[in-house]
Amino acid sequence: MRLSLTTGLFLLAATAESLSLGDNIQGPSAKKPPLPPKPEPISLKTLLLPPAVADDAPVGGCDAKANPRGTGCLGRTAYFQGGGFSPDGNHVFAEVNFVGAPTAPNPSSIYNGSQLILVKADGKTFPNGDTWKCLTCGVPHEEGMFDNPQAFLDGKRVLAGLRIVDCGKYDLTSNKCTPETTNVYPLRVNASPDGSGRGLDIRELRLNPDNVHLGFNAFAIINGKLNQHGYFSRLSFNPSPTNGLPLGPRYDLINVTRLSNLANPAPVEVEGDKIILTRNAITVGEFRGFSGDGKEAAWIGYPAESSNVDAFATDLSTGVNRRLTMHPEYIDPIDFSRHGNWMAIMDTRGTNRNMFLSGMRYVPPLTDLVTTPVTASVRNNGRRRFFRPILLDPYGDRGDYFGQRINDQGSGKAGSGDYNDPEWNGRADPRWSFDGTKIVYWEEQTISPACGGENPLPCYPSKQRDGIAQRIVVATLTSRKPRPPPKVEILSDIVPWGEPYVPGTAPAAGPELPAGNYTLKGQFSGFAKVELLHDPQTSLLDTVSVAYFGFSDDGKAFLNGTERVKSRTINLSKFNIDWHSDLTQTVGNVVNTKKSGPGGLQVEMDFSVNIFIANGTLVTELDGVKYFQPQNNT
Ligand SMILES: *[C@@H]1O[C@H](CO)[C@@H](O)[C@H](O)[C@H]1NC(C)=O
Ligand SMILES: *[C@@H]1O[C@H](CO)[C@@H](O)[C@H](O)[C@H]1NC(C)=O
Ligand SMILES: *[C@@H]1O[C@H](CO)[C@@H](O)[C@H](O)[C@H]1NC(C)=O
Ligand SMILES: *[C@@H]1O[C@H](CO)[C@@H](O)[C@H](O)[C@H]1NC(C)=O
Ligand SMILES: *[C@@H]1O[C@H](CO)[C@@H](O)[C@H](O)[C@H]1NC(C)=O
Ligand SMILES: *[C@@H]1O[C@H](CO)[C@@H](O)[C@H](O)[C@H]1NC(C)=O
Repeated sequence: MRLSLTTGLFLLAATAESLSLGDNIQGPSAKKPPLPPKPEPISLKTLLLPPAVADDAPVGGCDAKANPRGTGCLGRTAYFQGGGFSPDGNHVFAEVNFVGAPTAPNPSSIYNGSQLILVKADGKTFPNGDTWKCLTCGVPHEEGMFDNPQAFLDGKRVLAGLRIVDCGKYDLTSNKCTPETTNVYPLRVNASPDGSGRGLDIRELRLNPDNVHLGFNAFAIINGKLNQHGYFSRLSFNPSPTNGLPLGPRYDLINVTRLSNLANPAPVEVEGDKIILTRNAITVGEFRGFSGDGKEAAWIGYPAESSNVDAFATDLSTGVNRRLTMHPEYIDPIDFSRHGNWMAIMDTRGTNRNMFLSGMRYVPPLTDLVTTPVTASVRNNGRRRFFRPILLDPYGDRGDYFGQRINDQGSGKAGSGDYNDPEWNGRADPRWSFDGTKIVYWEEQTISPACGGENPLPCYPSKQRDGIAQRIVVATLTSRKPRPPPKVEILSDIVPWGEPYVPGTAPAAGPELPAGNYTLKGQFSGFAKVELLHDPQTSLLDTVSVAYFGFSDDGKAFLNGTERVKSRTINLSKFNIDWHSDLTQTVGNVVNTKKSGPGGLQVEMDFSVNIFIANGTLVTELDGVKYFQPQNNT
């Protein structure tokens, strides 16, 4: 099953004042971070991609008219993914889909299907005059994706999908790197006690800056729901395996550790009639990558504030955990610079996509026990994302600092094709250049069915060459000086807070919180009465009711009112939640509210598709500004 979700399943727009109170409710970093940086100058440039034709171009449809050099055509809206830089910073990797190839023995027949290409990022061309070259066309390999391409420091290898593309002794950017000198080596995680079989089904791989370790995610079904876990492992080249598939030369991922452990505190626990929140619990729902020095694993997981998906980073050796983002909007793609861990993220901040759910800050994460599959999925409309690229300093969100929008240039008008055209949607992942002066990100324009036809939103023609729906943009941070990436230490294989992975074993389910009535005390004042109920058929938690009485963690925001959410599981990835909110928060003279309409809000969400469909309403009002849910199917 290929799911479009990029979320752990267990899974600006508001006034600064209403968003930014006492910062460290989460409290992991005791040291006070420095003042946030001032916005810095950014110059943007769109790279020239291969010519494009219709996705369903017939055999030979990519003809001499479409591409006179015979080096292939992309489908205008076919699957695409921009990737990272080559170490020289002058090239960017991308996964593309070539269509309309003629049949063999025509030499252009190799420009077919899913392939990995290199695109020039320095305004120059390859010797044939193209601004790109295909690295895998004509190289024998199994069908499959080349997603999330990330170069090794040696410049000769790139991780792409579940494999490593290796040009032997040549740099991948060199003219000497040809199909004859290139190999595509699969990656494998053994998943059976006797070493047989194809191994664990893994996804979303990230290379550690030490170039020896690699992280990934894998799905598991727990209690009838699809769940995801992050893993840490060591790369080990196996030139002639005698067991397990595929049998040819491959990379084995060994010394595998699951980045979760039931022995660690859970974010919500009960003790007698009390609810205990662990504010800095490690809850890796989806592993997202490594810090620039390689030492931390970044992830999204259980929220720190209700309905708000944020990024965290945990030191692999010490387990020290820090919260990177706090904005109520949704984040998940993240990349760190090699020099001091600056971040480039993709976040829905500024679009108001999620504010109706998560705009009210400092609400303890209780209803989240049953809502995360839904609250983490409103961020998309099917294939459409609502992400924008954001630059964040190494300390992350704090006070009224929520980073700098990287693509804030242009008229901002829908359909303009400008850098800040809201119909161009940021996609995963943005990536830093090795010298720390550039960030590359890619975007896809809104396409049917997220616009046009029965959808109330209009579609706009793409202004990119040949009307292609994707673009790769290089952002240069012009005030920064290029520096070679600092050397990083090779990490230990051992993650003391994780759980060594035993091939063939599935992650265990944690204990279900018992049904009952509980109290959660505010850290500053007040309390919340919490009732947890189980579905009588499954004995799993399905309802959370909370009533707040002057509840405050920080002495600034005070919460009163009630919330009650009941979740019904339809299948592995599909849920229906019935949501009732009547919350009032006072912050000084400001009154914020979160209120559902008379019959509440019912949302049906399949997180493998991410289409918002609801009855009823839920409105969050912050300092007089109202935030509404998206229209159904938009
Ligand atoms: C292109 O790839 C598809 C899918 O693998 C295959 O069916 C088709 O024959 C290929 N076309 C050419 C020209 O090789
Ligand atoms: C890592 O895996 C190798 C090969 O299986 C094994 O020999 C080694 O002991 C493992 N290291 C650790 C720290 O478990
Ligand atoms: C919670 O308390 C109320 C009022 O006493 C009671 O009616 C209800 O059954 C209790 N809920 C549970 C799950 O025990
Ligand atoms: C919130 O509830 C507390 C305790 O019940 C009460 O003292 C306070 O006046 C309430 N605040 C508002 C704004 O309703
Ligand atoms: C869940 O049900 C929906 C139809 O309601 C279906 O489209 C989807 O494929 C199902 N998902 C799984 C994982 O069974
Ligand atoms: C909305 O209400 C209709 C009519 O009662 C029902 O069929 C549908 O399932 C509801 N949708 C959701 C998302 O609950």
